[in-house]
Amino acid sequence: MSNMIATKTKEIQLPSESDPCVIIEGDAQSALSQYPENTFQTCVTSPPYWGLRDYGISNQIGAEMDLNEYIEKLVNVFEEVFRVLTPDGTFWLNIGDSYTSGGRTWRDTDKKNKGRGMSYRAPTPDGLKPKDLVGVPWRLAFALQASGWHLRSDIIWHKPNCQPESVKDRPTRAHEYLFLLTKSEKYYYDFDAIIEPTTEKNGSKNRRTVWSINTTPFKDAHFAVFPPSLVKPCILAGSKKDSIVLDPFFGSGTVGEVSIETGRRCVGIELNPEYVKIAKKRITQANLSFSY
Ligand SMILES: C[S@@+](CC[C@H](N)C(=O)[O-])C[C@H]1O[C@@H](n2cnc3c(N)ncnc32)[C@H](O)[C@@H]1O
Repeated sequence: MSNMIATKTKEIQLPSESDPCVIIEGDAQSALSQYPENTFQTCVTSPPYWGLRDYGISNQIGAEMDLNEYIEKLVNVFEEVFRVLTPDGTFWLNIGDSYTSGGRTWRDTDKKNKGRGMSYRAPTPDGLKPKDLVGVPWRLAFALQASGWHLRSDIIWHKPNCQPESVKDRPTRAHEYLFLLTKSEKYYYDFDAIIEPTTEKNGSKNRRTVWSINTTPFKDAHFAVFPPSLVKPCILAGSKKDSIVLDPFFGSGTVGEVSIETGRRCVGIELNPEYVKIAKKRITQANLSFSY
C-alpha cells in the first residue's frame, strides 16, 4: 500500500517500502500542485522536446506553435518542481534541440522512427531563419535561471550510436544536453557515487561533463525514452537510499525502474494513459527483479 497524506484539496499518494513507485496519470503541473513543499530529494526528467513528436493527446506539452509558449509552459511546470524539492534538492533536466522547419507544415513518417511523423510543424520563430538550430536547451536553461534556479552544470550526453541523418551541409548531431539545476547554492551531491576511472585506469577522478552513453530503445514505446545508464548517475549523486525521486514526464517509467534498482522511491506523472499502462508493466517487472 502507498502512503496517503491529506492536502487541502485531496489525498495525495507517496511511495512506500512495499510500493516504491507511485504512478499518477495526469498533467504534470496540476498533479504537482497537490504535493506539499520539500517532498522530493531529486528530480530527473526528460520533457517532450519542442515540435519533435506528436503525442496525440490534449494538454500535451511540445506541440505549441510558439516557441516562447513552450518555454513558458515548461518554466511553469518546473516552478512547481522547485517548490516540491527539498532545499538541498537537485534537478537533472535532459533536453534536445531542433531545427526550424523552413516553411514545411508537416513531417513524413520514418520506418525506423515511428514517432517522427507529424501532422503539424511550428512556424519559424521570430528572429530565426530557415535551417537555423533553435537552441532550445539553452533558451530553456536561461529561462530557468531567471525563474530562480541555480544552473550548475551542462552535461553533454554523447550518443555513440546516434541516428544517422541525411544531411551533407553540417555534422550529424550526436548529443543532447543534461542540465544540473539546484534550488540553493549548497545542495546534496554525492560526487563519490559517480566518480569515473582516470584515463590511465590507475585510479578515479571527479565525473567529467561529457557522458558517452548509447541510446537503448524500449520495445513497448514509440517515443523517446532515455537510457537507464543516463539516469543512474543522476539518482546516485542526487539522492540517498529511500529518498523520493520525481519524474513529472514519466513516459515508459525509466526513472522509476532505476529508482527501484538503486533502492530509492519514485513518483512519476504521465499524461498519456497508454504510456501509463506501459510504465505500470515496467515498474511491476522492476519490483519483481530488484526487490530485496
Ligand atoms: C520524452 S517523453 C519521456 C520519456 C521518459 N523519459 C522515458 O524514458 O520513457 C515525454 C513524456 O511527457 C508526456 N507528457 C506530455 N505532456 C505532458 C503533460 N502536460 N503532463 C505530463 N506528461 C506529459 C508525454 O506523454 C511523454 O510520455
